[in-house]
Amino acid sequence: MIFLPKGRLVSLRRLVFALALIANMLVGLGAVPTLADVPPPAPGPNGLALTPPMGWNSWNRFQCDIDERVIRGAADALVSSGMKDAGYVYVIIDDCWHGARDAHGDIQPDPKRFPQGIRALADYIHAKGLKFGIYSDVGDLTCAGRPGSRGHEYQDAAQYAAWGVDYLKYDWCNAGTMNAQAAYLTMSEALRATGRPIVFSLCDWGTSRPWLWARNTGNLWRTDADIMDVWDGVREYRKGVVNILDDQVGLDGYAGPGNWNDPDMLEVGNGGLTEDENRAHFSLWAILAAPLIAGNDIATMTPATRAILTNRAVIRVDQDPLGIAGRRVVKDGDSEVWARPLQDGGRAVVLLNRGSAPRSIAVSWQALGYPANLVAQVRDLWTGKVSAGAREGFSALVAPHAVVMVRIGG
Ligand code: GLA
Repeated sequence: MIFLPKGRLVSLRRLVFALALIANMLVGLGAVPTLADVPPPAPGPNGLALTPPMGWNSWNRFQCDIDERVIRGAADALVSSGMKDAGYVYVIIDDCWHGARDAHGDIQPDPKRFPQGIRALADYIHAKGLKFGIYSDVGDLTCAGRPGSRGHEYQDAAQYAAWGVDYLKYDWCNAGTMNAQAAYLTMSEALRATGRPIVFSLCDWGTSRPWLWARNTGNLWRTDADIMDVWDGVREYRKGVVNILDDQVGLDGYAGPGNWNDPDMLEVGNGGLTEDENRAHFSLWAILAAPLIAGNDIATMTPATRAILTNRAVIRVDQDPLGIAGRRVVKDGDSEVWARPLQDGGRAVVLLNRGSAPRSIAVSWQALGYPANLVAQVRDLWTGKVSAGAREGFSALVAPHAVVMVRIGG
């Protein structure tokens, strides 16, 4: 300071004062959160399932014929088949794992089928880098007559968390006059209270229209009846692939990161569908941004089934981070076009032929929300073939009960 002339010294003091003032203001400002400091609201009830959950569930193939050998075998096969690498992470035991409640009311597994207990099974699955899911029901009994969670919600949630459960599917059988919103919210709160991140899958088959109210309750909600391993058909409470597809029209706007419409688990590889139909089922579920929960016997699946379930290009559409579900943009008898916008500005498009003769199916760029004069690259997600779309849109010859699935741009 002594080297500075007097005037400069004063201004230096002023400068220090001004700097202190600014620093003070900044500290003060720091106390008021700026927009950048406020985290966006967590999507869904818990910030989980930012893309549709992927995994395997025991029900479609094994129903009640499950034990720890079957579940461990499925976990082993998910890894050895490459499905884990393709993104399938949840191994979910559906109905029929239960034994009785013990003297404290704690739910126990069936001691004959799961002699080593659920914790050991969860540990086995976790050790493979996979996650573990389990099943219960809002009522006194599950659909298969095992103990449900009614009146034991917090106790069961705590038990699941202690076992290392990462995913709960919660069914709606024997619900009597219960209110769906209240019943599902109770279990959602019970799961939250455990402090363990647990994906919550609502399974009321769409009866209460959960897409209208479950955004902060569940991560996924069934939209429909149980899937049946047929292309087209309705039997009691079960529906074929295209019957379920029809019921998804109008639901796309309710899906997004953390909340997914669930048109039910996959039947790919269970024997009731042709190879074309299996490919169509998988493509349509991807365009719907549906959970991809395989329901076949992974350990014995054919190479053709494996190739369908591990098609990375189709899975990439399902898992697109933008999370906008697809919708039907063309319906002309048995010809349909389903499309969804993707994060990179591209579109995924499925041309679906529901009929029994081959037919040419077309979609205009405008129907996909593009300018009419678009020049775009079109990549077939099943053959890998890349082509330039025509001037006014895209068309292809589609086999009966089959799809052509493409990615436009991107
Ligand atoms: C219901 C569900 C199915 C399956 C069975 C088990 O039908 O919708 O997905 O969980 O119960 O009993």
